[in-house]
Amino acid sequence: MTEPRQRHLLGIAGMSREVALSLLDTAKVFLEVTRRPVRKVPTLRGKTVLNLFFEASTRTRTSFELAGKRMGADVVNISASTSSTTKGETLHDTVATLDAMHADVVVIRHSASGAPHIVAQRSRAAVINAGDGMHEHPTQALLDAFTMRQHLGDDLSGKVVAICGDILHSRVARSNALLLPLLGARVRLAGPRTMLPHRARDLGWEVYDRIEPALEGADVVMMLRIQRERLGAALFPSLREYSRVWGLTGQRLALARPGALVMHPGPLNRGVEIAGDVADGPHSVILPQVEAGVAVRMAALYLCAGESGPPTAQE
Ligand code: CP
Repeated sequence: MTEPRQRHLLGIAGMSREVALSLLDTAKVFLEVTRRPVRKVPTLRGKTVLNLFFEASTRTRTSFELAGKRMGADVVNISASTSSTTKGETLHDTVATLDAMHADVVVIRHSASGAPHIVAQRSRAAVINAGDGMHEHPTQALLDAFTMRQHLGDDLSGKVVAICGDILHSRVARSNALLLPLLGARVRLAGPRTMLPHRARDLGWEVYDRIEPALEGADVVMMLRIQRERLGAALFPSLREYSRVWGLTGQRLALARPGALVMHPGPLNRGVEIAGDVADGPHSVILPQVEAGVAVRMAALYLCAGESGPPTAQE
């Protein structure tokens, strides 16, 4: 079978089910590679990957770097704080400059929604969105779906996923809410009224302004942190009050299906949106999500820049 090829990976919006499934299946092969004693394949030998991060990141930046290196690419990391953007250079000029160095893939995280799309219009390189403002974080949604498939089976049809917390400001929520229905899962969005998107119901998602009914019978509980860096005004009385009403405790988790998965994209605010014992407990797949992140980003790089087929289990 030939896998679909794509020039850019800018979002889940517009992605076909075929491409999503191909990425998730390819990531399985790469997960196996990342678990070998020698975690290297030559799939991107001779290619150059630029990681351009204008916002803080631990998981996404590191996993894209590891993904590129494990595929044999030359990887260069550029963070806004050490780049010439601090001297007033525009995004346009930064991209044109990097383009002149013949990058094959530009991975970009930016606080402005749509920044990766603008870069994609101007760059000769393939562009992967590593999170843009409140818009999308496609590789996070893919690694979340990958983790669900690893634990619940490949067919997510009918699985109930409760995404809880600051939905309005979360690009992770948005990308997941687009991807999961494509894979047959049901999405429940739960958050304080001030943190729910206005048209969420019209767009076909089940919406809750209390956490308890959203958790009832859920197969997956995905908790989100409050995006304090994107809050213009106080949208809840205090962190203590937020935690009391919205925090995932063991007692609340008992409302979900027995064996339900607890997920969180990170970084966690322990004791706020999730109790420490739940984050570290037997239902938690938070660290498997991180492991999946490397494999999924290898699959994303392969989708955008690979020429030969992905490695087989024997290679
Ligand atoms: N989940 C996520 O995007 O984490 P980082 O901000 O650490 O990359």
